[in-house]
Amino acid sequence: SSGFSDGMCGLEVEERLNCMPVSSSKILVRGGIVVNADYQQNADVYIEDGIIKLVAPNIKVSDDVKIIDATGKFVMPGGIDPHTHLEMPFMGTESADNFFTGQAAALAGGTTMHIDFALPIDGDLAAGYDSYVKKAEISCMDYGFHMAITTWNENVAKDMETLVKEKGINSFKFFLAYKGSLMVTDEEFLQGLKKCKELGALAQVHAENGDAVAEGQTRIFELGITGPEGHPLSRPSVLEGEATGRAIKLAHFVNTPLYVVHVMSIDALDEIARARAQGIRVVGEPVTSGLALNDSVLWDSDFQTAAKYVMSPPIRPAGHNKALQAALANGILQLVGTDHCTFTSEQKAVGKHDFRKIPNGVNGIEERMHIIWDLMVNSGKISVKDYVRITSTACAQIFNIYPQKGAILAGSDADIIILNPSRSTTISSKTHHSTIDTNIYEGWSMKGNIEVTISQGKVVWANGQLFVERGAGRYIPLSPFGPLFDGLDKLDAARIHSYNPRHRTVV
Ligand code: URP
Ligand code: ZN
Ligand code: ZN
Ligand code: ZN
Repeated sequence: SSGFSDGMCGLEVEERLNCMPVSSSKILVRGGIVVNADYQQNADVYIEDGIIKLVAPNIKVSDDVKIIDATGKFVMPGGIDPHTHLEMPFMGTESADNFFTGQAAALAGGTTMHIDFALPIDGDLAAGYDSYVKKAEISCMDYGFHMAITTWNENVAKDMETLVKEKGINSFKFFLAYKGSLMVTDEEFLQGLKKCKELGALAQVHAENGDAVAEGQTRIFELGITGPEGHPLSRPSVLEGEATGRAIKLAHFVNTPLYVVHVMSIDALDEIARARAQGIRVVGEPVTSGLALNDSVLWDSDFQTAAKYVMSPPIRPAGHNKALQAALANGILQLVGTDHCTFTSEQKAVGKHDFRKIPNGVNGIEERMHIIWDLMVNSGKISVKDYVRITSTACAQIFNIYPQKGAILAGSDADIIILNPSRSTTISSKTHHSTIDTNIYEGWSMKGNIEVTISQGKVVWANGQLFVERGAGRYIPLSPFGPLFDGLDKLDAARIHSYNPRHRTVV
């Protein structure tokens, strides 16, 4: 698959993706409203060789520069999706989108970078990492990796160190759910947290109480509830709240920052809000599905329809999504992911007579930018600057790649989208770029359309057409000791200082 580096694309496989002759390396995006997380201005953006060279009004350029008119449109940093699962071995199958189809979908929806969760193989981190390096050879956009920790031993500790110091990994995910497969115990989690702190790596947590979930699944199934609605019934939000609170407290005990992935409920939100109010360093990531949907869809009498919404933690009853939107608007939650983890109807059908066997996961990598625009900006909940922050900049900062990514500044990578606020977008599995046959947002229509995506300084999406190249995607190494670790050494020192009896009253 490295044979595509000469400018050819994967046309023979994906019919909706088109080849384009070698594109200009010099682009001027003219006349748009350039929006960063902290500032917006009417300006032109000049790009050369994949890098933003200049952001200023009325830039004059020579004839060999491709001009893109952005009058009346928003010019923003490309989206960064902090949470995806491409070609992931999971629940006896493998998620359907690979690093090419998933990323092509991302680019068509205005996302220009993602961070995927590499899974160990039988607890072996090095083997898991290597397998993901291979899978990602077909990439057509920039990507990074988180690594999951699914057990604990000396080798895991050693491999974490190698991954951080030599392989560009700066975050590790711990699953408190999926008993019998990915789940870790509190003891394993604690060891992992300690190691994360030592390495300057961000600990991430899937927060559901896996023991109680297993109990709940048996209880619901034995009541004779076998359909997709059994999924949310078996793992209610109280179990997400419990695990979120526990994870935050354990991370605080170790004094290392924590990132809670896919925050789906008010229960989890309350734990995060309380901790943040106490100054505890916890980041909360809601996902598109949790923000946009409620659990009524899981009661659809058609199995195929209901099953496409099965993910964990489950999509919650109405009200939770509104609370998550509010928390995102007021800063209790910081950024939006997708948890893009797709399965075809055929794959989902494995659980036709037992909800416990339905592969967990939903689509979102292509839809996130449009849906969040509609939910949050069109509704008036946040500004366009805040939209940039929650879809791109915050992610770049948290994972320590700002301002290479997440900003339209001279010197930043030329990953840029042009959004037309007056044109509409309609979502359908008939037109989406994911490989699956369903879409959880089927038929949704909204104001706002990402007309152009520029990735690595090249136009990869325009006029409803993709121009992508297999193998053009670059691995973006992520460095440890990001902003969440700033000053942590001083907090440690203050904590130890406070153990001294002479200072106990002061702290
Ligand atoms: O249902 C989900 N979320 N599938 C992907 C794995 C995970 O827990 O993130
Ligand atoms: Zn998870
Ligand atoms: Zn996930
Ligand atoms: Zn003192």
